[in-house]
Amino acid sequence: TKDTTDYVAEINRLKKEKNAVILAHYYQEEAIQDIADFVGDSLQLAQEAAKTDADIIVFAGVHFMAETAKILNPKKKVLLPDLKAGCSLADSCPPEDFKAFKAKHPDHKVVTYINCSAEIKTMSDIVCTSSNAVKIINSFPKDQKIIFAPDKNLGDYLNKETGRDMLLWDGSCMVHEAFSIEKLLSLAAEHPDAEIIAHPESPSHILKTASYIGSTAGLLKYARESKKEKFIVATEAGILHEMIKQVPNKHLIPAPAEEDNTCACSECFYMRMNTMKKLFLCLEHELPAIEVDEKLAAEALIPIERMLALSI
Ligand code: 13P
Ligand code: SF4
Repeated sequence: TKDTTDYVAEINRLKKEKNAVILAHYYQEEAIQDIADFVGDSLQLAQEAAKTDADIIVFAGVHFMAETAKILNPKKKVLLPDLKAGCSLADSCPPEDFKAFKAKHPDHKVVTYINCSAEIKTMSDIVCTSSNAVKIINSFPKDQKIIFAPDKNLGDYLNKETGRDMLLWDGSCMVHEAFSIEKLLSLAAEHPDAEIIAHPESPSHILKTASYIGSTAGLLKYARESKKEKFIVATEAGILHEMIKQVPNKHLIPAPAEEDNTCACSECFYMRMNTMKKLFLCLEHELPAIEVDEKLAAEALIPIERMLALSI
């Protein structure tokens, strides 16, 4: 039988009844972004989680984001519509391997991108996101040796931006790795009046073509403030939903992915595991909830709080 549930009405009702807040990332499907109380980039979502007075946080994003919200709110219920919504980048940095890597470089400080597990965060001096990474790295003395993990593309970009030589962990995001440079260049040739804007999780050959590089919130701001009327946008396609709202009269073109790739449409398989139905069910049953071991959470909180203190 056909599902006739009015998920928008049901989710709004439950949200009110339970004093829950829905935090959504820009890579979520459109209906989820539209029903969320707050939509943002990774930093804004962590900042919002740190200050919410809701009893329940529903995190419409991926596991590491909800886990960060739980670490910031150990007493609150933090729900993730689908617990299997992971992240290829976070998965590319297994804690045991990273521990051994870190042990080989005892004179290095560790800066980790927020896209990693709580275990990795406990081994970090400070966490960062793509919107505050330059500032965080520059908070260390110029001659300080640094390990940057897990994203090698972001790390390579940050090395160039800060003039450092950070040791990079070999991880990456499958969505940003999948952009096709050949197709991007022919698209740019078809639209010579368009500017390419890209997320720094993209490989260096993609970033070389970009007029602006930044986090999802950074890309939105640039599209708003630039005088250009046309953009080719190299990040997960979910961003276009908010971008169209913010610059309705501009022409936005998603950057093309390789045809033979599973994410040819540049959608993150993990982000898209969340659906309106799962959002409704998780609010109704208050499951699945994120649980983080108390000691682990207390240790992972330290580098997250250091990041938040430097990000005001
Ligand atoms: P930002 O929203 O911080 O740019 O992060 C992008 C991303 O890949 C999140 O998984
Ligand atoms: Fe992870 Fe990439 Fe998906 Fe972001 S877009 S959640 S980095 S796999």
